Amino acid sequence: MYRTHNCGELRIKHVGETVTLAGWVQRTRKMGGMTFVDLRDRYGITQLAFNEAVNADLCAAANKLGREYVIQVKGKVAERYAKNDKMPTGDIEIITETLTVLNAADTPPFTIEENTDGGDDLRMKYRYLDLRRSNVRANLELRHKFCLAVRHFLDAEGFLEIETPVLVGSTPEGARDFIVPSRMNPGQFYALPQSPQTLKQLLMVAGMDRYFQIVKCFRDEDLRADRQPEFTQIDCEMYFEQQDDIIKVFEAMTKHLFKEIRGIDLGEQPFLRMSWHEAMRRFGSDKPDMRFGMEFVELMDTLQGKSDFAVFNEAAYIGGICAKGCASYTRKQIDELTAFVKSQQVGAKGLVYARVMEDGSVKSSVDKFYTQDILQDLKAKMEAAPGDLILIISGPDAMKARKQLCELRLEMGTRLGLRDKNKFALLWVVDFPMFEWSEEEGRLMAMHHPFTSPKPCDIAKLDTDPASVLADAYDMVCNGVEVGGGSIRIHDAVLQAKIFKVLGFTPEKAQEQFGFLMNAFRYGAPPHGGLAYGLDRFVSLFAGLDSIRDCIAFPKNNSGRDVMLDAPSAVDQAQLNELRLLIKPAE
Ligand code: AMO
Repeated sequence: MYRTHNCGELRIKHVGETVTLAGWVQRTRKMGGMTFVDLRDRYGITQLAFNEAVNADLCAAANKLGREYVIQVKGKVAERYAKNDKMPTGDIEIITETLTVLNAADTPPFTIEENTDGGDDLRMKYRYLDLRRSNVRANLELRHKFCLAVRHFLDAEGFLEIETPVLVGSTPEGARDFIVPSRMNPGQFYALPQSPQTLKQLLMVAGMDRYFQIVKCFRDEDLRADRQPEFTQIDCEMYFEQQDDIIKVFEAMTKHLFKEIRGIDLGEQPFLRMSWHEAMRRFGSDKPDMRFGMEFVELMDTLQGKSDFAVFNEAAYIGGICAKGCASYTRKQIDELTAFVKSQQVGAKGLVYARVMEDGSVKSSVDKFYTQDILQDLKAKMEAAPGDLILIISGPDAMKARKQLCELRLEMGTRLGLRDKNKFALLWVVDFPMFEWSEEEGRLMAMHHPFTSPKPCDIAKLDTDPASVLADAYDMVCNGVEVGGGSIRIHDAVLQAKIFKVLGFTPEKAQEQFGFLMNAFRYGAPPHGGLAYGLDRFVSLFAGLDSIRDCIAFPKNNSGRDVMLDAPSAVDQAQLNELRLLIKPAE
């Protein structure tokens, strides 16, 4: 038997008991004739005491223990003289009687404590050591609890967890696929699923109402703090339900998760719903952070054509935000904001600002172009008061300018401490456009995915004005993060074929790529819909993390590499031969 108790469970009531513990040496402290060792496992830390006067050999052995040695000790639980109320086991210590080294350890490359000295790369390379840190481990524990709560909730609602394959066919829509060569079918490839979208729809055609799956998805896209090439979805689908019914089920699930995991009661009220157009107009984003206001004010009427300022006169959009109490910003702070909006990440040409002074007058960076009267109109339009700072962005592409102003709003929200991680603002963004224009592809693309149903009242416009067609699609947004998204699906083969036509597919190509789905629709497909949550994103929000990486046991870095496994890597020539693959030399 390695242990009678774990390192987190002994309390004052155990005093006098003889126990055996096993774990890792967190640290050793020598204080006069006493040596103290902090012994750690998944459950906590227990202090071991060694007294030189009582057993000199044992104490000498303890002094030789290095960090992360795996040891086993036997001893008596005693009440501590100097209690530590920060530790659950802080009232007791073990008066050690025997010590066995189960495994020695090299000195770890960084300290394995809550605040480590290890940089990102090092911690990723030795992720198994990083995971020993209590705060990192806590994220995985929270993730486990989250998944369990999801499964309990969905099971109680009659959902069935059904697995779908990981080796599927490649499809041209969406992000890039990860592809897998087939040895048995030379020259042919599987793809890893970007989501089980079509498979869950086929399950609906198969009659399996209320499907869910906590499932790995794979997308070969550029990475960010909230994106990983492999990530996990809580994927759900149901039939004979309309948008409102689906929203109701998942709103209830979300409230349940907040209560269960964070102890937060989101109340009886339904979540706010906002159309995509309204979200873009008021916040320049389809995932507005509603923890704070600072809404956009359109200033075309106020500033365009009112002077010789060409930047505004030629703009397709001029918008401002009002930062309360920021008129006192120094030149340096304004320069920082200007550099921020001009950075590659944001891409604006510049920033115009206007300070509302204590006497009500307005001093702006464009004073030489605008009269005080016009600046007063600006102040009134922005509903700005003395002490406020007005920040303005404009541009020839309205959508781009809105997105830039959105970045600035978020930056100001962060600077002003308005984005509290312990505050949660949830909403549904609904009525997305069905299509968006892709410059890269030179054609319309589905904004959600091509299986999303247009709003029934807009179907007639598919032939005449597809860009104005709205979709029965909805996203759940929390604190500016898209945590989930879904839609009512097309269940009619003819309508599905029409969507592929609008997307630029020939009937042959549509049949080749998506025939399996359109054919299935001819055999009695029920009206259906669903959604998928991004599990990693949701858990990160719950844990207050800046990156989804921190709630994934073995994540990839920003170049899509697993630096611990050194993957991806080259494979043997023999493997390539077997697959009949030839690697083209770099150009
Ligand atoms: P969508 O592409 O919106 O929809 O994905 C659903 C949710 O998955 C999360 N997500 C990601 N999380 C981490 N890394 C990524 N690379 C990543 N990409 C997406 C987001 C997103 O809201 N089949 C549809 C869902 C449906 O219609 O039912 C789908 O995959 O939180």
